Amino acid sequence: MLIFSTQADLKAHLKSVSSSKITIGFVPTMGALHKGHLSLMTESLKENDLTVVSIFVNPTQFNNKEDLEKYPRTLESDVEKMKTLDDAIIVFAPSVDDIYEGKTISQSFDFDGLENQMEGKHRPGHFDGVGTIVKRLFEIVTPTNAYFGEKDFQQLQIVKKMVEKAKLPVNVIGRPIFREKNGLAMSSRNERLTAEEKEKAAIINKTLLEAKEQFGTKNANEIIEWVEKTFKKETDFKLEYFEIADESTLLPIETKVDGKKYRAFIAVFVNEIRLIDTISLN
Ligand code: PAF
Repeated sequence: MLIFSTQADLKAHLKSVSSSKITIGFVPTMGALHKGHLSLMTESLKENDLTVVSIFVNPTQFNNKEDLEKYPRTLESDVEKMKTLDDAIIVFAPSVDDIYEGKTISQSFDFDGLENQMEGKHRPGHFDGVGTIVKRLFEIVTPTNAYFGEKDFQQLQIVKKMVEKAKLPVNVIGRPIFREKNGLAMSSRNERLTAEEKEKAAIINKTLLEAKEQFGTKNANEIIEWVEKTFKKETDFKLEYFEIADESTLLPIETKVDGKKYRAFIAVFVNEIRLIDTISLN
């Protein structure tokens, strides 16, 4: 399995093996790979001539120092997982210096307001960091297709917006959330949960499923109130937000309109570990 740790080496390799006829699939990750990531890779391997996976914990998208420090870094076991999937995967695992060349700062972006909702509101600067790294990785990897999980649905919409605005020649493909048996959305941050916390965190998806049920008969405010009440009773959890929003603008819903797509979004702290999840309401 080829593992590159500098952009210069990866670019030189891609130059030597690719041509205009070759398609490159790209799966950007921050490592601590789970089945959701592996399914994105499987899809990329099926649909492209080459598949590149990046593993890079991007400092500029963390608004919380402790979250960045404690983010799981498991390169060796990640490589083992990818080897089992397909030895042909090309891994890009650069250092912070190689990517940021001494200036670990974000570019600032205008995502037409998508960045001001939910995660953007609660994690200042987060989407500038995501935009900066994804754009940089797209420039290095020059993918034909790039694969993202829908757990970070807002991120997916933002990356699509960035590609549209900058007219980048890449298809951005979103794929459904992978879940644990108890419904908990797979996430690298789950590695930081104890077995008991993982079990209890089933309440996050359960709440979303119940909200979906209620969406048929109740209005958004009634559902939000019910979710807030539910989490007040759960002493191990702290609800950061629960929102029902239009899937394309991400603006909170005022009244339901036929033909529009809606989603519920949630962010919850389990002790100091922050988990997010989302569900389509249509
Ligand atoms: O979703 C993630 O893991 C990250 O936000 C991404 C897209 C790899 C950028 O650092």
